[in-house]
Amino acid sequence: PVKRLADYKAPAFLISALDLTFELHDTQTRVTAVSTLTKNGTDPLLRLDGEQLELVSVELDGKAVTPRFEEGQLVIEVAKDSATLKIVTQIDPTANTALEGLYRSGGAFCTQCEAEGFRRITYFLDRPDVLAVYTTKVIADKAQYPQLLSNGNLVESGELEGGRHFATWHDPHPKPCYLFALVAGDFDLLEDSFTTASGRDVLLQIFVDKGRRVQARHAMEALKFSMKWDEDTYGLEYDLDRFMIVAVDFFNMGAMENKGLNIFNAKYVLADDDTATDQDFDNIAAIIAHEYFHNWTGNRVTCRDWFQLSLKEGLTVFRDQQFSSDWAGSSATRIKEAQVIRTLQFAEDAGPMSHPIRPLEVAEMNNFYTVTVYNKGAEVIRMLNGLLGKAGFRAGMDLYFKRHDGQAVTCDDFVDAMADANDVDLSRFKGWYRQSGTPVLTVREIWENGHYGLKLSQLTPPTSDQAEKGPLPLPFAIELLGHGKDVLQLQDAEQTFALGQFDEKPILAPLCGFSAPVKLVFEQSDDELAALMEKASDGFVRVDAAERLLQRLVAAWLQGQEHPALELWLRSLHGIATRPLTDAFLDAELFKVPSVNAMQGWFEQIDLDGLVAARQRLRSQVRERLFAVLHDRYQMVKDVKEKGARALTNSLLTLLAEPLEQGVFDRYQQARNMTERQGALAAAVAGDLANSDALLADFAERFEDNPQVMDKWLMLQGQRSGALKRMGKVMEHSAFNWNNPNRTRALIGTFIATNPECHTEAGYQWLSEVLPKLDAINPQATARMVGPLLQWRRFDQKRRQGLEALLKGLQTPHTSADLGELLGKALKG
Ligand code: ARG
Ligand code: ZN
Repeated sequence: PVKRLADYKAPAFLISALDLTFELHDTQTRVTAVSTLTKNGTDPLLRLDGEQLELVSVELDGKAVTPRFEEGQLVIEVAKDSATLKIVTQIDPTANTALEGLYRSGGAFCTQCEAEGFRRITYFLDRPDVLAVYTTKVIADKAQYPQLLSNGNLVESGELEGGRHFATWHDPHPKPCYLFALVAGDFDLLEDSFTTASGRDVLLQIFVDKGRRVQARHAMEALKFSMKWDEDTYGLEYDLDRFMIVAVDFFNMGAMENKGLNIFNAKYVLADDDTATDQDFDNIAAIIAHEYFHNWTGNRVTCRDWFQLSLKEGLTVFRDQQFSSDWAGSSATRIKEAQVIRTLQFAEDAGPMSHPIRPLEVAEMNNFYTVTVYNKGAEVIRMLNGLLGKAGFRAGMDLYFKRHDGQAVTCDDFVDAMADANDVDLSRFKGWYRQSGTPVLTVREIWENGHYGLKLSQLTPPTSDQAEKGPLPLPFAIELLGHGKDVLQLQDAEQTFALGQFDEKPILAPLCGFSAPVKLVFEQSDDELAALMEKASDGFVRVDAAERLLQRLVAAWLQGQEHPALELWLRSLHGIATRPLTDAFLDAELFKVPSVNAMQGWFEQIDLDGLVAARQRLRSQVRERLFAVLHDRYQMVKDVKEKGARALTNSLLTLLAEPLEQGVFDRYQQARNMTERQGALAAAVAGDLANSDALLADFAERFEDNPQVMDKWLMLQGQRSGALKRMGKVMEHSAFNWNNPNRTRALIGTFIATNPECHTEAGYQWLSEVLPKLDAINPQATARMVGPLLQWRRFDQKRRQGLEALLKGLQTPHTSADLGELLGKALKG
């Protein structure tokens, strides 16, 4: 059943307090839920959500009642204005492979309730605008589950008969049920403390699998840095006596911001030099920060309904991006953020799942934890930040918390706080929340009698969900090379900007820092693009200029023609490789040949074979023409013990893998850390070198005991050429596990997202067997990996037919709601 934003109604009842008792047993867990209810209007019918529950009993004010079921909800008539409702349910956490609600993972109990998982624990008003104070008693076997955790502060614990024990937790901050969490297990514990600006001593605890405590140290440093950063940047302090993080290997997403008890996918907690890459370290810091920041943007101020998800996610991603640029930021940080938008988000908007950052209709909420809601949502906040300035944005944040602390609110409330704090009108800006699709920004230069100016126009093409589009206010940041920077505010469909008098026509660096999530159309000369690629002061502009050159070149190649952009691109790379090294991170980006995925974004129709061939040709051109200079640079940086140097070394090694075959092998064997080892291995796989089998086998032997590292191996197995014929074998390896979404995403998800072999008859045949099996185990994990297949209409005719048949074949009576919604959208019309 589809829900619509326009149909929002306030809840008929409020629940001010919820007392929970969990009697944990592996397959038969009993949950007793006592709610303090009050009517929020005149409707006497209380309708509670529930899924996969066995109802044991219901009592209203101490009297047994027999409820009825209507449309999957439990309906209870409540005559008085307030009442106490006691519900007992039984659930099976071991059989729960969907990993929503309460489940057992690697021998521990844990929960995931966002978005609508709490209804798999007990019958409840499972919606974010019902805020209650929780008291949770957890009872379990003491030997097997010595640690019993829930939200808030520990109030009591003790022994019980039969080897069991209990702990009672109280969370004084009213919260929606999606922030509820429970964990029971036997973990190693890393502890530390943090004193807040106003003097509260906070106990910090990170719970990890036995034997891995030292691998939580980096996460702990990131946590303390996050706590300090949020105080310094936004004046936001932590509000409980302890903050706990639990790392589990079975988890559908990255992590979850449950109040006082964050639960993390282990891959975003555990790290040391031998097992994690520099990128892993940065990702961990970003996600630790993200979940911690949710304590204010998400928990203290939460969402009225799930259509408002970007209220907390877009804002919190923006905050974690700001944090990352302060913590470990390099010139590549922003380039990578822009890449996520330009590859994944633009593709989402070009396909059947197109939606505004505040969606209008949703069938399965889990399908809307998207790169649009999260990352485009963050770009929208970034534009506000730029528009209002640092102080203005901070004033808006302060007003937002002053007005809405403890409330469940909307995206409009957030923008209104920004507008009111700065006394500006943001009503047109709100269009970014309503409108889906990617604005195409066309730039035309005006150069007359020494006067230089720009004519900007914008047009958003229709998307699958929305035909009518209008212009949106957007900041266009520019640099005139050698003459300085400026930000032009485009308000309308078309506007002209005079930029002054010059002796010669200046060279324009457009969209500095990726100032707005738009596609650029600008017929700049090849020579100017080459100049930007070498000389612009903005890193994003430099990488983008290279891409725009390559886009022209590849477009010509696809037509069987040659293009002068090739020589210019090679010449610029030569220049970059021979001049003094100033920014290794940036050069690491410039020395990457764009992925086939990135190239798909350059064209409406996907000529997959043509793009694969073009990419190979680009790689071989670089190898043949620039080997000497690239090799010199490789020699210069390969032993430098510094992150930027490692990034650059890995890019160069990937480009030069074929001629450097022995060098790749040596680099792998002599690696001093995982960044070097995985970089060499990835280079061997990308170059399809003869020794890649031996290296992969060595890697599996070295790391077979570390599932997070083995995910890197599974990813490479998904990416490599010849992946399909080896799949059977890889899936039999002990590293693979159908029930673990990290494993299936690494192998199957990577295969779908990156491997051209996916788009063969045999690939589609294989997926038609694998995906239904996976969907029966874990719908959410399955739905998250089919995105690229939904783009079927953009492929050539043969693949279109193959994909259409595949997608249609996946629609059966057994298909999950998650996958079903995506298939329905992809195949309609
Ligand atoms: N709120 C979590 C985060 O971004 C993600 C939870 C995702 N849940 C889901 N059902 N998809 O930090
Ligand atoms: Zn989040």
